[in-house]
Amino acid sequence: DTVDWDPEDAGKGEYDHYMLKEINTQPTALSNTIEGRIEDGDVAFESLPPGTFADVDSVQFVACGTSYHAAMYGGQLVREAGVRAEVLRASEYESTAGPVDETTLVVAVTQSGETADTLDAVRKAADRGARTLAVTNVVGSTAAREADDAVYIRAGPEVGVAATKTYSSQAVTLALLSQRLAGDVPDAAPVADRAAMLEALEDLPQHVETVLETSTAESLAEETLDSESFFFIGNGRGRSVALEGALKFKEITYEHAEGFAAGELKHGPLALVTEATPVFAVATGGADDKTKTNAIEAQSRGAPIVAIGPDDHPLVDIADAHLSVPDTHPVWTGLLANVQLQLLSYHAADQLDRPIDKPRNLAKSVTVE
Ligand code: G6P
Repeated sequence: DTVDWDPEDAGKGEYDHYMLKEINTQPTALSNTIEGRIEDGDVAFESLPPGTFADVDSVQFVACGTSYHAAMYGGQLVREAGVRAEVLRASEYESTAGPVDETTLVVAVTQSGETADTLDAVRKAADRGARTLAVTNVVGSTAAREADDAVYIRAGPEVGVAATKTYSSQAVTLALLSQRLAGDVPDAAPVADRAAMLEALEDLPQHVETVLETSTAESLAEETLDSESFFFIGNGRGRSVALEGALKFKEITYEHAEGFAAGELKHGPLALVTEATPVFAVATGGADDKTKTNAIEAQSRGAPIVAIGPDDHPLVDIADAHLSVPDTHPVWTGLLANVQLQLLSYHAADQLDRPIDKPRNLAKSVTVE
């Protein structure tokens, strides 16, 4: 007799799916990401000492899928640190990138380090004279080998096709990178409360743990599951979280989900809003006024509003339901909101009995253009 045994299943431990395991191990992954990288209220990157980016004038991020959303989060923080940055979809690099030269830092954000579109974009940038940096999870990957420098996100192996812990570790690594850039790039205006921001980062693994222990996403998924479409809105740092929330939701539930910049809702998508289209509004502790105004607009058309944010956030006052995240420095709030949205997608897909770790038509790493 033989026993059917999939070696991949062995690593799931107590969890039904890799995705749930990977969501739940984010506190450890984040602790590893941060380990040794904050010293005396400043960023300490082993491979990128202070002054590394003294010649950098602007930054281009290139990435695909979930990594693109982490890059959006990072790009926002780089701009908030007073450094010019654009965030480009790697597949669009050829057709949309602005000019580059040796003062441009092109950052490839890629979990696997093997995504064909991302490798192609970074090669084109290098050909044009840009300096390149890979932010990746895989030591020795093509991106890490080919780029001028590499920074590892140290999330540990991720098996689920839907990226979860690597998103969080990428976003945190890019946030640290934003502060290195702010210190190095001439004329940058580093965030005034950098020490407070970095101090709060050291608490992030614990805050993620709190979300994991207290989340009500499972019952909310059940309550909203018979909806027609699922909309996710956010502003500023919250926009990338909304886009990522929608991507995750559609990838693994096969339900229709879209993410929008909150202010864009009224310029088209509002036509789709009914009582059968819940709107998940991401609070970030930043520019959330527009998110609130537009959530109210959708609510007046009948849509149930779910606020994802700290308990005392103004969005929570108007919302019909709430996924709570701990109070912290506003730079990290979006990452906690994202954990709630990961759980929402996971539980919705689980209730629909979807093949969560291997959604149809999708691959963990896309090595064709
Ligand atoms: C595939 C995966 C996504 C991932 C994207 C980029 O599409 O299904 O989850 O975000 O590739 O992957 P990378 O390895 O470059 O981060």
